Amino acid sequence: MSNYHIKHLEEYWQVYRKSVRNPENFWEEIAEEHFLWRKKWDKVLSWDFSKPEVKWFEGAKLNITENCLDRHLATRADKTAILFEPNNPDEESQHITYRELHERVSRFANVLKSQGIDKGDRVCVYLPMIPELAVAILACARIGAIHSVVFAGFSSTALATRINDCDCETIICSDGSYRGKKTIDLKSIVDEALESCPGIKKSFVVKRTHTDVVMKEGRDIWLQPLLDNASPTCKATVMDAEDPLFVLYTSGSTGKPKGMVHTTAGYMVYTAYSFKNVFQYRENDIYWCTADIGWITGHSYIVYGPLANGATSVMFEGVPSYPDYGRFWEIVEKHKVTQFYTAPTAIRALAKENISYVDKYDLSSLKVLGTVGEPINEEAWHWYNDNVGKKNSPIADTWFQTETGGIMISPIPYSTPTIPTYATLPLPGIQLALMDENGKEIKGNQVEGRLTIKYPWPSMARSIYGDHERYKNTYFNSFENMYFTGDGALRDAVGYYRITGRVDDVIIISGHNLGTAPIEDAINEHPAVAESAIVGFPHDIKGNALYGYITLKEAGEGRDHDNLRKEINQLIADRIGAIAKLDKIQFTQGLPKTRSGKIMRRILRKIACNDTSNLGDISTLLNPEVVKDVMAKAII
Ligand code: WTA
Repeated sequence: MSNYHIKHLEEYWQVYRKSVRNPENFWEEIAEEHFLWRKKWDKVLSWDFSKPEVKWFEGAKLNITENCLDRHLATRADKTAILFEPNNPDEESQHITYRELHERVSRFANVLKSQGIDKGDRVCVYLPMIPELAVAILACARIGAIHSVVFAGFSSTALATRINDCDCETIICSDGSYRGKKTIDLKSIVDEALESCPGIKKSFVVKRTHTDVVMKEGRDIWLQPLLDNASPTCKATVMDAEDPLFVLYTSGSTGKPKGMVHTTAGYMVYTAYSFKNVFQYRENDIYWCTADIGWITGHSYIVYGPLANGATSVMFEGVPSYPDYGRFWEIVEKHKVTQFYTAPTAIRALAKENISYVDKYDLSSLKVLGTVGEPINEEAWHWYNDNVGKKNSPIADTWFQTETGGIMISPIPYSTPTIPTYATLPLPGIQLALMDENGKEIKGNQVEGRLTIKYPWPSMARSIYGDHERYKNTYFNSFENMYFTGDGALRDAVGYYRITGRVDDVIIISGHNLGTAPIEDAINEHPAVAESAIVGFPHDIKGNALYGYITLKEAGEGRDHDNLRKEINQLIADRIGAIAKLDKIQFTQGLPKTRSGKIMRRILRKIACNDTSNLGDISTLLNPEVVKDVMAKAII
């Protein structure tokens, strides 16, 4: 028997040791006992990080939706699979049972099939947090189409880039979306994007806001009539273990976004196993993750992980501040939520508001709290622990990445002691190492280094869509035979891990990963801009905010700076999304550079953080005089 459900610390260590001693046996037992296979594997694992190539459960055949849906029909058909909570609290919640979800996915899958979509085709999904989003991705998985969800807060340019990079021929979108008080005209964002996406042949439109939209003849199709006419059963396409399940984009520190490719069997096994343990999920619990399905957290821990366990997963359309700052807690009380999983940025925002927004509601159903996406600062951790958990619900500070597919480091609630700001221990099967700058492993405790993973795990991304070389260079070239995360971490005296943040040029704003390069590219498109450099600085609510140093061309001299700031931020909003707007913009005569012409972001970061006591040796710079000037005019 495998220890699928860890219940105390000693058991964790036993399981962990077993998983490291013989990883293949460990994952094989879990896969054997807890999933539905059309055919079992011939080989559990083959791997070579130098290529890199990783295969789990090679030779196995399955369909992930049979594991997330069909398998539960015998015992849980009337249990709520998705509990949809609309943006507007006056609109009724929807309890979608496993039977209903199975039927809706089947209808949707039949529609896709009848419209010519086949196994292996890429389908872009650009939808708000409504049930159709979950249904759409499961429908793709049902027929073996590869879904590529793009967060519906992204701009038309960002959407177009992702559609084209992924060679999508189909998009599923909606007329509009609700976010708090706002109604957003999603369809026109899509229309604008599709002007530069010649590959798109069909666009299926879900009705949500009943906004007037333009339907382009021959391309745009209302989805509902097709669903109404489709059969409610659909045979699942049998997939190979390593067939791609989805592509999901994440920002890189340079260049265009990376389409991380995730495959079927390993992803399923790992997300299901980690969900069960990190959230200590038990039958009849009501689990709620507030992420958007447009991110990996939503893929793995709203849809696939929970459904593979036959769980009830709450899906929330709205925002934490609407109709007021008590909305999260109102929902917890209303549905008696047992596990609540959110981002530090949301906690910090809510902690700023009056405590009566929390105290008004009965939160006694909560058993486990979680956070994800960025480091949680101590103050936020305590606020969450004291006011939401009432010191009774352990906080799982979960560390993972789009690339890792599932949670890598987290306390096991009720087993691992929690410590504020510590993600604590690796999950079973995850073999971490801290490395120094020269590529040597730093052994022992009370050490700090670059966080790497030295052995494959089932849910790791297998490639970057269309660019395997980039996958290799980004993750496997820094340290021999290891996956490099891009994060730094420390290991304390007892071996617990604390993530210290990115060691590259990715900045995390409100839990969203932003690469500096694409933002700088957008700014540099402005006709008055000569050059720019973006750095992050600490921000009370967002965790980090962006500070831009910009030098102007002659054309920009004499222009009103406030107007320029507005235009630059508008450009960023258009190219990337409002999330990437700069909080501070300083116009400078020059940017500090090394002699090889590399912008010294390290120095700019220190200036933005008002931490200029130790700038290091600047005499080797190409233009040391610039530093003084930048410092004198810094916006603090
Ligand atoms: C950061 C999100 C500290 C980290 C699931 C990582 C965290 C990046 C944590 C991935 C955490 C995520 N503590 N930092 N608990 N969780 N991060 O791909 O820098 O959107 O590399 O995946 O977020 O972001 P991504």
